Amino acid sequence: MVAILGYSRPQIIAAVQAMYGAVAATPDAPFHFPVGAEACRRLGYPTAQTAELPGETLARFAGVGYPFRAGAVRPGDRVLDIGAGAGNDALIARRLASPGGRVIALDLTAGMTRRLSDAIRRASIDDLDIVQGSAEQLPLPDGCVDSITSNGALNLVPDKRRAVAEMFRVLRPGGRLQLADVVIHRPVSVDCHEDPRLWVECVVGATVKEDLLALFEEAGFEEVRIVGEHDYFALSESPQTREVAASFGAHAIEVGMRRGEAAPSWVWRWRHRLDPRRAWRRVQRRGLLGLAALSLALLSCYGTLALVALLPLLGIGLALDEGLWAGTITLFVLLSLGALAAGLRRRVGPLPLMLGSLGGGLVLHALFVDYRALVELFGFTLLGTAVALDLRRRRRQEAQILGLDRTASGA
Ligand SMILES: C[S@@+](CC[C@H](N)C(=O)[O-])C[C@H]1O[C@@H](n2cnc3c(N)ncnc32)[C@H](O)[C@@H]1O
Repeated sequence: MVAILGYSRPQIIAAVQAMYGAVAATPDAPFHFPVGAEACRRLGYPTAQTAELPGETLARFAGVGYPFRAGAVRPGDRVLDIGAGAGNDALIARRLASPGGRVIALDLTAGMTRRLSDAIRRASIDDLDIVQGSAEQLPLPDGCVDSITSNGALNLVPDKRRAVAEMFRVLRPGGRLQLADVVIHRPVSVDCHEDPRLWVECVVGATVKEDLLALFEEAGFEEVRIVGEHDYFALSESPQTREVAASFGAHAIEVGMRRGEAAPSWVWRWRHRLDPRRAWRRVQRRGLLGLAALSLALLSCYGTLALVALLPLLGIGLALDEGLWAGTITLFVLLSLGALAAGLRRRVGPLPLMLGSLGGGLVLHALFVDYRALVELFGFTLLGTAVALDLRRRRRQEAQILGLDRTASGA
């Protein structure tokens, strides 16, 4: 899921501002994510670059990687840093873009932009502009920058597709983009996804890696490549954050790319979005394989029977190959059971698989041993109940890991 549902958006923006306002005000307070000079060093920033940064901005570093690994910023560039925070990357970009370059540091949180304003005034820096604004609606004209850098911000943006479209708009054709951000292996379910507290902890708002890369390609970026990948959350002092990150496969990546000449046609974009391999991956990662297989089993069973009954009324004859029909239903029933068995690894307990096996057994008995419509229907009902139970338990377990449902026993 790329854009969150509308109703919780203002709360998420407010939660992001409160969290990063706190980092700006009290950087030494405990946070669940790494903050400051040590984090910067461990993420791979060379000492030669950090040595020149003011102590007050370095203490407020909250990035998730080292985006400069992608090498997007060149001398003479007009650079935009999106979600600049206290401005460390903007200050590094300023050095890389000189001579003749200029940097815009944009951030949503007033506390952060105020800190950076104070720091550059004190250092008499005049080639860095500070803008308070949103990545979803950049207050800049089309094609006005040569390169964009961003570190740890996109995972916090509610509408990522819109933010990526904005990056494409303000970057000149052929311009370069470098990004460090959090990605996940397994998406978070919608109810947990909407929780503002979880959103600001950098895992829940993150996108599945392949979906994030596809987002840039669909917007018209080319040569999208991963240049670094690392276990960012291992640096977190919070055991709960480390557990949540491990459970969703959350980690950081550094990406580089180039803006194409024009945005791709909508036909190309939709073909890309509807690619069956992507759809399959999405179903799998969302834990919906059991539901999809059950739906296909029901469709091949009762859908075929309905066709066989209805088509003659339209004057179309249809001969049913009973072997093929029963084989197809069996395949989907077994696939549902396989998905329920996979739930055992997710510690949902044996009940869904036991119930599903009983239901599947009854369907197969009706198909191959002694056909009774009621037995078959009862078998499907049991299988459906098992799939629903498995989904419910997975959701509860997810909420428990995220700390949303502390009363649940993980039953
Ligand atoms: C994880 S911090 C990283 C800050 C900085 N890039 C660094 O490396 O220290 C993310 C920053 O993104 C900003 N941010 C979050 N959502 C944003 C949005 N929608 N538009 C602009 N900035 C945003 C936050 O205010 C915060 O300062």
